[in-house]
Amino acid sequence: MRLRSSTSPNGSMASCLYGVYAILKQHFTLQLVNRKGLTPFRLLFVALIWLPPYFFYANYLEAYLLPLRLLCYTQSDLLSKQPISKNFDECVNKIFGGIRQVDTSECHLDNVPEVLIRPELPKNPHVILVIRTGPGSIDYRNFIRNTWKPKVEKYFPVVFVCATSPNHKVLEESKKYKDILQFNFEDSYHNLSWKMMSIYGFVLDELPSVQKIVVINDDTIVNATALNQVI
Ligand SMILES: *[C@@H]1O[C@H](CO)[C@@H](O)[C@H](O)[C@H]1NC(C)=O
Ligand SMILES: *[C@@H]1O[C@H](CO)[C@@H](O)[C@H](O)[C@H]1NC(C)=O
Repeated sequence: MRLRSSTSPNGSMASCLYGVYAILKQHFTLQLVNRKGLTPFRLLFVALIWLPPYFFYANYLEAYLLPLRLLCYTQSDLLSKQPISKNFDECVNKIFGGIRQVDTSECHLDNVPEVLIRPELPKNPHVILVIRTGPGSIDYRNFIRNTWKPKVEKYFPVVFVCATSPNHKVLEESKKYKDILQFNFEDSYHNLSWKMMSIYGFVLDELPSVQKIVVINDDTIVNATALNQVI
């Protein structure tokens, strides 16, 4: 008999049973007290008599709800809403569910935007730091290149990610620094989720060795030592 159950009696059948039990208990309690007088032992008996049926009942609930609980704990997908797409949902589960397997070869996102510019990357990195940036934010990028980026790059590669803009070209800059990943869609605030999906798609498709993706914005300063400690 498990005593640690926190299950409370509920449901109409349960309430009914409990009601009948309460009436019976009251009936017998009164008889006991009236006929034979109130002694401390009888008082204790009356006070504790509800415990055995309660534990029996809680145990019953526990036993019958256990499969349902297990189902909820292990099959949380059943509780979620419609996935964006089957593949995308699987990939997100792999990355965020804490059960990411090394093999993500089957993890292709649907309609990943075309890659326009690729950065130069070391072979088989385990961690990659991605900086979300806009094509026009060259000042921010240069600040990062001149400050903390080389320090972080002692530990893992750092890549700027942007999409396209009619007014700003990044091709020349990328030829010089080889640290820009550009996707073929319009760079805007409302397309930020599209940018994230593209980043995951790119990493899953082309960098299967990556276990961790660190994503930050271009207005962030990173402490390389501290970051390396938490990774
Ligand atoms: C997002 O990108 C698509 C593809 O380039 C573009 O058609 C759309 O206008 C963009 N959305 C916004 C809100 O900028
Ligand atoms: C960076 O982080 C390390 C480790 O946490 C810490 O010792 C150091 O003071 C930090 N540097 C700066 C500039 O805050």
